[in-house]
Amino acid sequence: MHATSSGSAAPAPPSRPRPGAEIEVEILALDPAGGVLGRAGAERVWLARGRPGARVVARVLRRRRSHLEAAPLRELDAGPDAAAPRCAHVRECGGCSFQDLAYERQLAHLLAATRESLAPLAALGVDPHALLAGIDGARETFGYRNKMDFTFSNRRWVCAGEELGADASFALGLHLAGRHQKVLDIARCEIQFERGNAILAATRELARAAGIAPWDSRAHTGVLRHLVLREARATGQVLAVLVTAPGHAEAIAALGRALVERCPSLTTLVHAESARLANVAVGESERVLHGPGWIDEQLAGLSFRVSARSFFQVNTAQAERLVERVRELAGGVAGAVVYDVCCGAGTLGLAVARDARELWGFELEPAAVEDARANAARNGCAHARFVAGDVRATLAAAALAGVGAPRPGIALVDPPRAGLHPAAVAALVELAPRRIVYVSCNARSAARDLAVLLGGGYALAGAAAVDLFPHTPHVESVYALERSAAS
Ligand SMILES: C[S@@+](CC[C@H](N)C(=O)[O-])C[C@H]1O[C@@H](n2cnc3c(N)ncnc32)[C@H](O)[C@@H]1O
Repeated sequence: MHATSSGSAAPAPPSRPRPGAEIEVEILALDPAGGVLGRAGAERVWLARGRPGARVVARVLRRRRSHLEAAPLRELDAGPDAAAPRCAHVRECGGCSFQDLAYERQLAHLLAATRESLAPLAALGVDPHALLAGIDGARETFGYRNKMDFTFSNRRWVCAGEELGADASFALGLHLAGRHQKVLDIARCEIQFERGNAILAATRELARAAGIAPWDSRAHTGVLRHLVLREARATGQVLAVLVTAPGHAEAIAALGRALVERCPSLTTLVHAESARLANVAVGESERVLHGPGWIDEQLAGLSFRVSARSFFQVNTAQAERLVERVRELAGGVAGAVVYDVCCGAGTLGLAVARDARELWGFELEPAAVEDARANAARNGCAHARFVAGDVRATLAAAALAGVGAPRPGIALVDPPRAGLHPAAVAALVELAPRRIVYVSCNARSAARDLAVLLGGGYALAGAAAVDLFPHTPHVESVYALERSAAS
């Protein structure tokens, strides 16, 4: 114990709650790294999930130097921002965690968390508050997802209230929040496109009737691994992919025939085989069982074919607004050489750079490059070329004039969640386009890449954010960078 200069004993610092202790937590904000943050007295508390504004009882799991990690046990006060969730699975499902938070408050918390992610840029003179004014919210907050990946499992999560001994040997649904070995059987997903729910139910019923075993993710045995569903909003075409273990072609072909017969909205069915141990809803090989192998979608007034392995923005209505923001932040493209870095099926570049002199897309996934080439052709974009490969190598090659592309005046960059590899960012600086528009679904990795670009002679000229994923902690943000005259 410390002694004061007058000799009287100072009050002992309050002892911190131990693991196992129950504490009362006021949930305050989203943690940009995932989960939510709150307070219990003087302690900062992190919870894997919860609703900002609510007061809960939680059990302490771990004591960290700066905060406690705790698991919510029960709610004491729903808080002023509570909303009635539409989904029956909302408490257990790891799919969308904020359905019970009023949508306007979701946007406010997402904006705060996005700005927080950009806080490291303050050291480079960027004020995240001034940079990002708000988020374009969605008009449709349910039924908006045009793509869902469901998982088959022989470990169904048995929900509270089910009969003792209920059959748990087959599930087709989504992983449980925080318990990835278990799969929650999903009767109906409220955020996916409506017809997806009927196809989900039919697949479960037909697979069970045919006696095809679901995958065991621990023993790595079984057959059925994933069901991917995708809808083109403009045409109503639906694509399904059955991802299975290798070696069951006949059984899957029979299941596929029954599924197409039962669900006439299925215009394309693909069988993908995966021998990988990891739970990823793509196969190493694919064969088309029904239809052309792709669906036809429209975006920004253009027509796009999207096949099973190609990326397409999951919220078509909000993708229209994303394209508008990218177009605004790109400024005039007429007569410019435009690079579309991580271009997928070519959507952003073709939508934004129709008047460009040349458009060059760079993409890793060969099937997406094939789609991008077909998409350029179907939209009469003879000025578009696509380079297949990892942008670590292809952008570096472009900087050395090794892919035949002239240097860009404008670069659109839309990497996966992890952001760009440092070698790709360095190549971008070397290529020195006068403007870069960086699109990101993860503001933390965006902040890392933007910091390098700011250090490489660029200044931020604007930003925007669009909510493509209502009820989830994710948001799409877009940043315009202008090359400073001196560099
Ligand atoms: C977020 S998506 C964006 C696609 C496209 N811009 C769009 O809006 O539809 C990211 C894309 O980057 C591609 N990708 C991921 N890693 C890559 C890499 N190392 N090199 C090139 N492309 C990559 C993915 O295949 C995917 O198509």
